[in-house]
Amino acid sequence: MARKILIAGNWKMNGLLQDGTNLAKEVANEVKKLGKPECEFLVCPPFTLLDRVKKALRGSKVALGAQDCHMAEKGAHTGDISPLMLKDLGCTYALIGHSERRTNHGESNELVCKKALSLHASGLKAVICIGETLEERESGKTIEVCTNQIMGSVPETANATNTVIAYEPVWAIGTGKTPTATEVQETHAAIRKVVAKKLGKSVANKMRLLYGGSVKPSNATELLALEDVDGALIGGASLKATDFMSIAQSVCGK
Ligand code: 13P
Repeated sequence: MARKILIAGNWKMNGLLQDGTNLAKEVANEVKKLGKPECEFLVCPPFTLLDRVKKALRGSKVALGAQDCHMAEKGAHTGDISPLMLKDLGCTYALIGHSERRTNHGESNELVCKKALSLHASGLKAVICIGETLEERESGKTIEVCTNQIMGSVPETANATNTVIAYEPVWAIGTGKTPTATEVQETHAAIRKVVAKKLGKSVANKMRLLYGGSVKPSNATELLALEDVDGALIGGASLKATDFMSIAQSVCGK
Protein backbone atom coordinates (compact mmCIF):
# COMPACT_ATOMS: atom_id res chain seq x y z
CA MET A 1 0.00 0.00 0.00
CA ALA A 2 1.68 3.20 -1.18
CA ARG A 3 1.08 6.06 1.20
CA LYS A 4 2.42 9.48 0.29
CA ILE A 5 5.18 10.53 2.68
CA LEU A 6 4.40 13.70 4.65
CA ILE A 7 7.23 15.78 6.07
CA ALA A 8 5.75 18.32 8.48
CA GLY A 9 7.32 21.06 10.55
CA ASN A 10 5.73 22.28 13.77
CA TRP A 11 7.37 25.60 14.53
CA LYS A 12 5.58 25.85 17.89
CA MET A 13 5.84 29.34 19.49
CA ASN A 14 8.84 30.38 17.42
CA GLY A 15 9.42 32.92 14.70
CA LEU A 16 8.95 36.66 14.23
CA LEU A 17 7.92 38.23 10.95
CA GLN A 18 11.36 38.41 9.41
CA ASP A 19 12.94 35.10 10.40
CA GLY A 20 9.68 33.19 9.94
CA THR A 21 9.28 34.54 6.41
CA ASN A 22 12.90 33.77 5.59
CA LEU A 23 12.59 30.22 6.89
CA ALA A 24 9.47 29.60 4.80
CA LYS A 25 11.15 30.99 1.67
CA GLU A 26 14.20 28.81 2.19
CA VAL A 27 12.09 25.68 2.68
CA ALA A 28 9.98 26.50 -0.40
CA ASN A 29 13.11 26.92 -2.53
CA GLU A 30 14.83 23.79 -1.29
CA VAL A 31 11.73 21.62 -1.69
CA LYS A 32 11.71 22.50 -5.40
CA LYS A 33 15.13 20.89 -5.76
CA LEU A 34 14.15 17.52 -4.28
CA GLY A 35 14.06 14.55 -6.59
CA LYS A 36 10.99 12.64 -5.50
CA PRO A 37 7.76 14.34 -6.51
CA GLU A 38 5.53 12.01 -4.50
CA CYS A 39 6.41 13.52 -1.10
CA GLU A 40 4.20 16.07 0.60
CA PHE A 41 5.46 18.95 2.74
CA LEU A 42 3.78 20.97 5.44
CA VAL A 43 4.81 23.81 7.70
CA CYS A 44 2.81 24.85 10.76
CA PRO A 45 3.94 28.30 11.92
CA PRO A 46 2.32 30.19 14.80
CA PHE A 47 -0.97 31.96 13.97
CA THR A 48 0.82 35.32 13.73
CA LEU A 49 2.90 34.10 10.78
CA LEU A 50 0.29 32.23 8.76
CA ASP A 51 -0.46 35.03 6.33
CA ARG A 52 3.21 35.93 5.75
CA VAL A 53 4.24 32.31 5.36
CA LYS A 54 1.41 31.67 2.92
CA LYS A 55 2.79 34.45 0.73
CA ALA A 56 6.35 33.16 1.11
CA LEU A 57 5.22 29.68 0.02
CA ARG A 58 3.40 30.92 -3.08
CA GLY A 59 4.21 28.78 -6.10
CA SER A 60 5.73 25.99 -4.02
CA LYS A 61 4.12 22.69 -3.10
CA VAL A 62 4.62 23.21 0.63
CA ALA A 63 1.26 23.23 2.41
CA LEU A 64 0.33 25.55 5.25
CA GLY A 65 -1.05 24.35 8.57
CA ALA A 66 -2.00 25.80 11.94
CA GLN A 67 -0.99 24.38 15.29
CA ASP A 68 -4.46 24.31 16.80
CA CYS A 69 -8.01 25.53 16.24
CA HIS A 70 -11.26 26.09 18.08
CA MET A 71 -14.11 23.68 17.49
CA ALA A 72 -16.67 26.37 16.61
CA GLU A 73 -16.96 28.21 13.31
CA LYS A 74 -17.29 31.62 14.97
CA GLY A 75 -18.66 33.25 18.07
CA ALA A 76 -17.81 34.51 21.54
CA HIS A 77 -14.51 32.69 22.07
CA THR A 78 -11.96 35.33 23.01
CA GLY A 79 -8.49 34.52 21.79
CA ASP A 80 -9.50 31.51 19.71
CA ILE A 81 -9.20 30.86 15.98
CA SER A 82 -11.69 28.80 13.99
CA PRO A 83 -11.08 26.31 11.17
CA LEU A 84 -12.94 28.63 8.81
CA MET A 85 -10.54 31.47 9.62
CA LEU A 86 -7.61 29.16 8.98
CA LYS A 87 -9.06 28.10 5.67
CA ASP A 88 -9.58 31.75 4.79
CA LEU A 89 -5.84 32.32 5.33
CA GLY A 90 -4.90 29.46 3.04
CA CYS A 91 -4.34 26.67 5.55
CA THR A 92 -5.15 23.15 4.43
CA TYR A 93 -4.09 21.41 7.64
CA ALA A 94 -4.20 21.93 11.41
CA LEU A 95 -2.43 20.03 14.16
CA ILE A 96 -4.72 19.13 17.03
CA GLY A 97 -4.23 17.33 20.32
CA HIS A 98 -0.51 18.02 20.52
CA SER A 99 0.79 16.88 23.90
CA GLU A 100 1.78 20.46 24.73
CA ARG A 101 -1.89 21.43 24.33
CA ARG A 102 -3.13 18.36 26.16
CA THR A 103 -0.76 19.16 29.06
CA ASN A 104 -0.64 22.97 29.13
CA HIS A 105 -4.28 23.58 28.23
CA GLY A 106 -5.92 20.47 29.65
CA GLU A 107 -7.25 19.33 26.27
CA SER A 108 -9.16 16.06 26.45
CA ASN A 109 -9.73 13.41 23.80
CA GLU A 110 -13.32 14.58 23.60
CA LEU A 111 -12.30 18.15 22.82
CA VAL A 112 -9.73 17.02 20.25
CA CYS A 113 -12.43 14.91 18.59
CA LYS A 114 -14.72 17.96 18.34
CA LYS A 115 -11.90 19.99 16.81
CA ALA A 116 -11.29 17.25 14.25
CA LEU A 117 -14.98 17.19 13.35
CA SER A 118 -14.95 20.93 12.91
CA LEU A 119 -11.84 20.83 10.71
CA HIS A 120 -13.43 18.15 8.54
CA ALA A 121 -16.64 20.16 8.26
CA SER A 122 -14.59 23.14 7.03
CA GLY A 123 -12.71 21.01 4.52
CA LEU A 124 -9.41 21.06 6.40
CA LYS A 125 -7.19 18.10 7.21
CA ALA A 126 -6.52 17.18 10.83
CA VAL A 127 -3.17 15.96 12.10
CA ILE A 128 -4.25 14.31 15.35
CA CYS A 129 -1.38 13.91 17.81
CA ILE A 130 -1.17 11.09 20.32
CA GLY A 131 1.56 9.62 22.51
CA GLU A 132 2.39 8.34 25.97
CA THR A 133 4.27 9.97 28.84
CA LEU A 134 7.44 8.46 30.27
CA GLU A 135 5.55 7.16 33.29
CA GLU A 136 2.97 5.48 31.08
CA ARG A 137 5.70 3.98 28.95
CA GLU A 138 7.61 2.66 31.96
CA SER A 139 4.49 0.99 33.26
CA GLY A 140 3.98 -0.76 29.91
CA LYS A 141 0.94 1.29 28.92
CA THR A 142 2.11 2.74 25.58
CA ILE A 143 -0.34 0.83 23.39
CA GLU A 144 -3.19 1.22 25.86
CA VAL A 145 -2.73 4.99 26.02
CA CYS A 146 -2.48 5.34 22.23
CA THR A 147 -5.56 3.13 21.80
CA ASN A 148 -7.60 5.30 24.16
CA GLN A 149 -6.40 8.46 22.47
CA ILE A 150 -7.33 7.15 19.02
CA MET A 151 -10.70 5.84 20.16
CA GLY A 152 -11.46 9.13 21.92
CA SER A 153 -10.00 11.76 19.64
CA VAL A 154 -10.43 10.42 16.11
CA PRO A 155 -13.99 11.08 14.87
CA GLU A 156 -16.10 8.83 12.66
CA THR A 157 -15.69 11.36 9.83
CA ALA A 158 -11.97 10.57 9.65
CA ASN A 159 -10.61 9.01 6.50
CA ALA A 160 -7.21 8.70 4.88
CA THR A 161 -7.60 11.99 3.02
CA ASN A 162 -8.79 14.26 5.82
CA THR A 163 -6.83 12.79 8.72
CA VAL A 164 -3.23 12.02 9.62
CA ILE A 165 -2.19 10.57 12.96
CA ALA A 166 1.08 11.68 14.53
CA TYR A 167 2.57 9.42 17.19
CA GLU A 168 4.71 11.57 19.44
CA PRO A 169 5.93 9.97 22.67
CA VAL A 170 5.80 12.87 25.15
CA TRP A 171 9.18 11.92 26.62
CA ALA A 172 10.80 12.11 23.18
CA ILE A 173 9.64 15.65 22.42
CA GLY A 174 12.50 18.12 22.58
CA THR A 175 14.68 15.76 24.62
CA GLY A 176 16.95 14.25 21.97
CA LYS A 177 15.67 10.82 23.01
CA THR A 178 13.69 8.53 20.73
CA PRO A 179 12.31 5.02 21.00
CA THR A 180 14.34 2.47 19.04
CA ALA A 181 13.35 1.90 15.43
CA THR A 182 11.90 -1.48 16.41
CA GLU A 183 9.77 0.14 19.11
CA VAL A 184 8.53 2.84 16.74
CA GLN A 185 7.56 0.25 14.14
CA GLU A 186 5.79 -1.89 16.77
CA THR A 187 3.81 1.06 18.07
CA HIS A 188 2.88 2.28 14.60
CA ALA A 189 1.73 -1.19 13.58
CA ALA A 190 -0.40 -1.34 16.74
CA ILE A 191 -1.82 2.12 15.99
CA ARG A 192 -2.77 1.02 12.49
CA LYS A 193 -4.62 -1.96 13.96
CA VAL A 194 -6.58 0.32 16.28
CA VAL A 195 -7.43 2.61 13.35
CA ALA A 196 -8.63 -0.48 11.44
CA LYS A 197 -10.84 -1.41 14.37
CA LYS A 198 -12.32 2.06 14.47
CA LEU A 199 -12.51 3.04 10.80
CA GLY A 200 -12.06 -0.19 8.87
CA LYS A 201 -9.06 -1.90 7.35
CA SER A 202 -9.13 -0.09 4.05
CA VAL A 203 -8.99 3.35 5.72
CA ALA A 204 -6.27 2.15 8.11
CA ASN A 205 -4.11 0.87 5.27
CA LYS A 206 -4.26 4.23 3.54
CA MET A 207 -4.02 6.54 6.56
CA ARG A 208 -0.69 8.24 7.13
CA LEU A 209 0.97 7.71 10.50
CA LEU A 210 3.74 10.19 11.27
CA TYR A 211 6.40 9.79 13.91
CA GLY A 212 7.36 12.85 15.97
CA GLY A 213 9.77 13.41 18.86
CA SER A 214 13.42 14.39 18.38
CA VAL A 215 13.49 13.62 14.67
CA LYS A 216 16.77 14.98 13.32
CA PRO A 217 19.02 14.49 10.31
CA SER A 218 20.99 11.75 12.11
CA ASN A 219 18.00 9.47 12.85
CA ALA A 220 15.62 10.35 10.00
CA THR A 221 16.80 7.76 7.49
CA GLU A 222 16.25 4.89 9.91
CA LEU A 223 12.90 6.12 11.26
CA LEU A 224 11.44 7.07 7.89
CA ALA A 225 12.34 3.74 6.34
CA LEU A 226 10.04 1.86 8.74
CA GLU A 227 7.09 0.13 7.15
CA ASP A 228 4.37 1.88 9.13
CA VAL A 229 6.03 5.30 9.37
CA ASP A 230 4.64 7.53 6.64
CA GLY A 231 6.43 10.73 7.49
CA ALA A 232 7.60 12.89 10.36
CA LEU A 233 6.29 15.71 12.51
CA ILE A 234 9.37 17.74 13.30
CA GLY A 235 9.68 20.36 16.03
CA GLY A 236 13.11 21.81 16.83
CA ALA A 237 14.78 20.64 13.62
CA SER A 238 12.08 22.31 11.51
CA LEU A 239 13.33 25.73 12.64
CA LYS A 240 16.53 25.36 10.62
CA ALA A 241 15.91 24.97 6.90
CA THR A 242 19.10 22.92 6.47
CA ASP A 243 18.05 20.39 9.15
CA PHE A 244 14.45 20.21 7.94
CA MET A 245 15.61 19.69 4.37
CA SER A 246 18.22 17.14 5.36
CA ILE A 247 15.44 15.11 7.04
CA ALA A 248 13.30 15.50 3.92
CA GLN A 249 16.24 14.53 1.72
CA SER A 250 16.67 11.25 3.58
CA VAL A 251 13.39 9.95 2.19
CA CYS A 252 12.31 12.36 -0.56
CA GLY A 253 15.63 13.07 -2.19
CA LYS A 254 16.10 9.80 -4.01
P1 13P B 1 10.91 17.96 18.60
O1 13P B 1 11.19 17.54 17.18
O2 13P B 1 11.51 19.28 18.96
O3 13P B 1 11.22 16.86 19.56
O4 13P B 1 9.32 18.21 18.70
C1 13P B 1 8.45 17.25 18.22
C2 13P B 1 7.09 17.81 18.22
O5 13P B 1 6.51 18.07 19.26
C3 13P B 1 6.46 18.07 16.91
O6 13P B 1 5.11 18.32 17.04
